[in-house]
Amino acid sequence: MKQFYFEESVERLIRISKEKPLLPETYVPWADEPKDDTLFMPEKLVSLEGHPLWQKLSREQQIELGRLEVIQVMYSYAWSETLACYFFQRHLLGLDPDSVEYRFLLREIIEESRHQEMFGMAIRKLDRKPVKPTGLHRLFAYLTVRWFPDSWMFISVLAIEHMADTYAHHMRRDPGVFSVIRKCSQLHHIEEGRHIQYAEWWLKRFTDSAGFFKITLLSLITLANILFMRSFYVQRAFFKELGTGDSDTLYRAARTHYRKKFAGLAAEESVRFVNSFGGFNFITRPLWSFFLLNPSASNQNPK
Ligand SMILES: [Fe+2]
Ligand SMILES: [Fe+2]
Repeated sequence: MKQFYFEESVERLIRISKEKPLLPETYVPWADEPKDDTLFMPEKLVSLEGHPLWQKLSREQQIELGRLEVIQVMYSYAWSETLACYFFQRHLLGLDPDSVEYRFLLREIIEESRHQEMFGMAIRKLDRKPVKPTGLHRLFAYLTVRWFPDSWMFISVLAIEHMADTYAHHMRRDPGVFSVIRKCSQLHHIEEGRHIQYAEWWLKRFTDSAGFFKITLLSLITLANILFMRSFYVQRAFFKELGTGDSDTLYRAARTHYRKKFAGLAAEESVRFVNSFGGFNFITRPLWSFFLLNPSASNQNPK
């Protein structure tokens, strides 16, 4: 892509961001209340759904597990957005404030800050506590945000945005899901669409000219980020909170089952993007297949 086209296109994204701001405080119907049978997350996204043990839970327990897990998903996005903003601020230090890149990233920081506030408001509305990242998560996050080169960080941010956007796609389209969650997802989907577009354009300058080693590395960084985020979602503590007899058995079943169905639910956009720069080769393809893709997601298999 020529520089001229990049700049013109990003100017358009900046203009939309300024002319059509979406404010969580007015966009989301915060006064709505869930009914007894309201879902908090589409059932297909709940870890244990689809496993034979799902039927062992009462309807109330199934809904409650969705409530706990959607809180965890929102918390993990808010946390990753804080990390992304940390990186963007680092990146801005080397840019000219008049440049189109600087001005777009400022808009992205503004929008990501609003998303963090929105997810925090939604978590408070749902009135449950998320499980915090482990020390290992925090160490990995700190080292990458502090020391990863820009292209590695942009592709990390993009991997998480693709995942978050795919989840938002499922959540905003399910009429059985609580209106607050659906509207949060809709807002996030609209604004993340611009962030994703920008990151893909930005990365083209690297992927178009990258050799085998760099392509392989970018593909594996994408995979690592997806696995990193996935590791937050299914939590032993949630199954204890459900108050079932054998919470450990349920937790282990949910974790294994969720890993099998995850690629089909959340990895499609990442696979498309990695394919677009030739990121599946004889080194990366077996690793993607082993760690993420599986027969239950056969339509996601890398070409
Ligand atoms: Fe966001
Ligand atoms: Fe974003």
